[in-house]
Amino acid sequence: MQFFVDTANIDEIKEAQAMGVLDGVTTNPSLMSKESGNFDEIIREICEIVDGPVSAEVVSTDFDGMMAEARKNAAIHEQVVVKIPIILDGLKAVKACSNEGIRTNVTLCFSPTQALMAAKAGASYISPFIGRLDDLGQDGMDLIATIRQIYNNYGFETQVLAASLRSTKHVVECALAGADVVTLPPDVLKKLLTHPLTDSGLERFLADWKSWEEGKK
Ligand code: G3P
Repeated sequence: MQFFVDTANIDEIKEAQAMGVLDGVTTNPSLMSKESGNFDEIIREICEIVDGPVSAEVVSTDFDGMMAEARKNAAIHEQVVVKIPIILDGLKAVKACSNEGIRTNVTLCFSPTQALMAAKAGASYISPFIGRLDDLGQDGMDLIATIRQIYNNYGFETQVLAASLRSTKHVVECALAGADVVTLPPDVLKKLLTHPLTDSGLERFLADWKSWEEGKK
C-alpha cells in the first residue's frame, strides 16, 4: 500500500518525507487556497521534495479548458499527475490525457459507476472520498471494497486512491479492502505510528534501565 499525504503545505510535506514512508502527494484547490505563492511553483517544489506522483488539479469545467490546464500542469514536472473531476467533460479529458500519455487522478468519486467510467477512460488513479460519504451517514469503505472488486473482475489497471480519510481506522480498513493508495492528512499519517502503550512501555524500559545503572554505582 502506498502512502500519499493530502496537503499543499511545504513544511508538512517535508516533515512527511522525512518519515521515510511517503510515496506521493495529493493537492486540491481547497488545499492550495491555504498556501501563499504561485500554483506552478508550489507544485514544482513539492515534486522536488517527494520522489513520487504529485496530483495537481484543474479548475476548468469544460473540455478545452481542462485539456489546456492538463497539458500545462503535466509540463511543470514529470511527476505531476493531473487531477480531474468526474463530470462529463472531465471524463472526455481523462480519455484525451490517456491518449496523450498524461497521467490522471480522477477526483470527487462517490459511486462505483463513476469509478467504472473513469477506469474505462484510462484513469491512472480513482479517488473515492470516504469521509464525505461517512459524513452523510453512508459507508465510504463499502465504496472502496466495491470498486476494488469491479476493477479486479475486469483487470482494470486504474489504481484505487482512497481519499478524504479522517482516521487511522480508515487506513486499516482501506488496507483490508485492498486500496492501492491512501492519501492522508498529515496528522493522520503521524498517528499511524503512535500508541499510548508504546510510549508508556518505553518510559518503563528507560526507568528500569536507569535504576539498574544507578544500582551498579
Ligand atoms: O484531496 C481530496 C480529499 O482527500 C479531501 O478530503 O477531508 O476535504 O473530505 P476532505
